[in-house]
Amino acid sequence: MTDTLSDGAVVERPLTPGLGVELLGVDLANLSEGQAAAVRDAFERHGAILVRDQQLGPDDLVGFSRRFGALDEAPLMENGRTAVPGYPEIYVVSNVLGADGRPIGSLGSGEAVWHTDMSYLPAPPRASLLYSLEVPPAGGDTWLCGMAAALRALPADLRQALEGRVIKHDGTYNSGGYVRAGVRVDDNPVTCEGQPHPAICRHPAGGPDVLYLGRRRNAYVVGLPLAESEALLDRAWEYACLPENTYVHKWRVGDVLMWDNRVTMHRRDPFDGSARRVMHRTQIQGAEPPLPAVAA
Ligand code: OGA
Ligand code: MN
Repeated sequence: MTDTLSDGAVVERPLTPGLGVELLGVDLANLSEGQAAAVRDAFERHGAILVRDQQLGPDDLVGFSRRFGALDEAPLMENGRTAVPGYPEIYVVSNVLGADGRPIGSLGSGEAVWHTDMSYLPAPPRASLLYSLEVPPAGGDTWLCGMAAALRALPADLRQALEGRVIKHDGTYNSGGYVRAGVRVDDNPVTCEGQPHPAICRHPAGGPDVLYLGRRRNAYVVGLPLAESEALLDRAWEYACLPENTYVHKWRVGDVLMWDNRVTMHRRDPFDGSARRVMHRTQIQGAEPPLPAVAA
C-alpha cells in the first residue's frame, strides 16, 4: 500500500461484508477536491467510514465535517455547558473530569445503549463523526449496525405489522441514561413528548429501505394500546442488531469514525471509569425528515 495516491484515488477496505468501509491513504486535513468527493461517495454507499492515523485540530475537524454539509451546533452537555470554547460545532464525549471537578464531556464511562442520534428531532442529524484524542486501554468499543440489513432480517409477519406504522421517538434520555437538559421527565411512552417518524423509511439516496427505531426506551408505536406497542417493539428490537449486521470498532488515537444516522444505529461498551476516553464529535445537519418507504 502506498501513501501517495493520484488525485481522487481513495483505497477502500470493507469493515464488514455489509456495513462500513475503511479509507486508506487519506489525510482528512488536506483532501483534494477529488478525494473529498470520493470520501463522500464512500460514505453514502457504505453507511459508515473509518479513517485511521489522523491528526486533526478543531479547525481541521470542523473543516472536514463541513464537506458533508452544514453542521449542527453541539447540544448542551448534561452539565448544561458547551464543550470546546470557540467551536460551538464540537461536542466532547468524555468521562474525564475538568479542573472544576465536573466532566469535560458527555456519556460518562457506562454503556451507551443502541440508538441513532437525536431522532427525537423532526429532521435528525444526517451523520455523526467521532474523532479519538484519548482512548482507554480496554473497553469503550463503539458498535454500529446496519438498518437495511435489520429490515431484511425481520420475519414477514413482523415487517407487515410495522409497515405504514409510525414510531414516536422519545427525547427524555440520552443513550447513557442521563436526562437531557431542560426536558420534562415522563416515563409513560404514550404520553411522553417525542417525535413521530415512519417505522420503515426509504433510503435518502436511493439505497434499500431501512428499519428506523431510534432507541428502545420510551418508544411507542403510535395508535396502538401500550401493551401491543411494547410487544411489537420488543420483537422488532430482537432483529435490529444481529451480530452478523454489526461492526465493533476498537479505538486507537487518531481514528475518525463517521456513521450515517439514517441507515445505522450505534452503541458503546462501558469502560473503567478511572481510565481516560476523550472524543470530539461533530454532526452534519439533516436536510429533511426521514421519509416513509414507498409501498412495494
Ligand atoms: C455519540 C455516541 C458513542 C461513543 O457520540 O453519539 O453515541 O462511542 N458515542 O462514544
Ligand atoms: Mn450517539
